[in-house]
Amino acid sequence: MSLALDLPRLQTALRLPAQDERQKLLHGLLQPQARIDSKYFYDDRGCELFTAICLLDEYYPTRTEAQIFNQHRDAIAALLPTNMQWIDLGCGDCNKTQSWLPAISPARVVGVDIAGEFLQSSLAEVALQHPQLECVGVVTDFTQHLDLDELLAERPGAPPVFFYPGSSIGNFEPRAAIRFLRRIRAHCGPDGRLLIGADLIKPRDVLEAAYDDANGVTAEFNLNVLNVVNRELDADFEPTNFRHFAHFNEAHRRVEMHLVSTRSHSVDLGGHADRHFGAEEHILTEYSHKYSLDEFRALLAASGLRCSQYWTDPQDWFGVFLAEPI
Ligand code: AVI
Repeated sequence: MSLALDLPRLQTALRLPAQDERQKLLHGLLQPQARIDSKYFYDDRGCELFTAICLLDEYYPTRTEAQIFNQHRDAIAALLPTNMQWIDLGCGDCNKTQSWLPAISPARVVGVDIAGEFLQSSLAEVALQHPQLECVGVVTDFTQHLDLDELLAERPGAPPVFFYPGSSIGNFEPRAAIRFLRRIRAHCGPDGRLLIGADLIKPRDVLEAAYDDANGVTAEFNLNVLNVVNRELDADFEPTNFRHFAHFNEAHRRVEMHLVSTRSHSVDLGGHADRHFGAEEHILTEYSHKYSLDEFRALLAASGLRCSQYWTDPQDWFGVFLAEPI
């Protein structure tokens, strides 16, 4: 008897052709303040390093959010619509969704991620453990485009619950965060919900240690982006010519990660252009915005979402927010 299992359905909705993506990357590097979009962190090595970051003593967000989920899971689940479509934005290995399934029993799970092969194997694992559950994958850069209308309409009467944990919302600048949250809002209908994790303001030393750990894992994660750019553009960045720098920019309420050129040198950006970097010149690689509870609720409100309830840890270091359309 064959035990072959159907692989979860996968839809691909990547909009920008690779050539346009490369053009954007090149454009960022040629600006007076050079910039690399933080989405380039996540090649295979970057994903491994990010997994290691999440286990670091200094990197409190992952474990703090997990504590909040574990402590309040049943209370949160009781506030969600029944017969929901659970939409995991940036689902990765689907581990977080897996921990919710016993509490929520959704009508189906939709995993959304930019990495197609990884998405399919993660969802296959979910399907294996929950054979009755329909699992669908959508391969897209959801930070740029989110169009799930047709997919959601396949299950009329099953409202979407968008799950966006991990404080990834902090990687958007506030105005872009509002645009992104409005796109989620537009999918909600009257009964849809958003369950989202956001990192909260806290003392500078805690924030800066989280992004510059003693073992140098975050430094390696940051520097690895140059290897990714080399492959994308056929460029010749030498990571040893840069050092990791992370600091809390209090005026903008964000941790910033930069790569600092340690000497004056030029980089060939793959025959497209040369870029000279002076000694101490910075490349900006990531913003990670931190909010107060009030500020985050205001961000939700500006996006057409009302925070119906939120949960934090005893130190108010991290917030989990449940939001519904206004
Ligand atoms: C994915 N994101 C929420 C992480 C953060 O904390 O902003 C990425 C990260 N960068 C350095 N460490 C972790």
